[in-house]
Amino acid sequence: MTRTIRPLVAGNWKMNGLKADLAIATEVAKGYDTGMKAAVDLAICPPATLLYLASAALLGSRIATGGQDCSTQDSGAFTGETSAVMLADTGATFAIVGHSERRTLHGETSATVKDKAQAAQKALLVPIVCVGETRDEREAGKAVAIVKKQLRGSIPDGSTAATLVVAYEPVWAIGTGLTPTAADVAEMHEAIRNELGRLLGKVTAAGVRLLYGGSVKPSNAAELMNVANVDGALVGGASLKAEDFLGIARACA
Ligand code: PGA
Repeated sequence: MTRTIRPLVAGNWKMNGLKADLAIATEVAKGYDTGMKAAVDLAICPPATLLYLASAALLGSRIATGGQDCSTQDSGAFTGETSAVMLADTGATFAIVGHSERRTLHGETSATVKDKAQAAQKALLVPIVCVGETRDEREAGKAVAIVKKQLRGSIPDGSTAATLVVAYEPVWAIGTGLTPTAADVAEMHEAIRNELGRLLGKVTAAGVRLLYGGSVKPSNAAELMNVANVDGALVGGASLKAEDFLGIARACA
């Protein structure tokens, strides 16, 4: 953790959740007690179909909502796309962009991710920009170089600590139960902080929240959150169980 940064735990529901599952969100809100509120920010990123309802259900809870992706465009003939403006209109305040599932399954390049992050910022959403290496890239000793390259391509110029969150998610750790060692996370998060310093200036970089994501659970959250420059978590699978999500948030607080 970085002492001067208020941590953020964001849940990425991915393509999971029907109306009945909003009970997970309200359960989380019930468990988000005064002590946790004082120490950690929470956000829930349900599928777009539930975003308006989730925002309404969480009104007054101080839990934010976010989209899982956004278009590079504000509006127009882009069938099937959801714009950042539309996400903001539901009450959302975050947008995950560049998740590895988008980069891999939808061929999103860092240039596209940057355009999406810019669109999010223009709509006054805070983009959670995801970066991370594959297993092959890590085994080839290229993890840090790959992540730095993704950052250079994906981070909008002029981003500030208030308008940007970065999530380091090693692709091989997502949904696999595998996590990097604390030493590997420390090395990567320091490299990310330094690269952001080169891109945005040291003062700005020092305040940007750097989340770790990839198989975060209540049982490993404390160890991961104790690593220097880890300012919270982006949680997939475990965010679908209120108790697990709250357990991770508690470890962060
Ligand atoms: P996971 O997913 O926690 O299920 O590994 C993380 C993510 O994809 O954001």
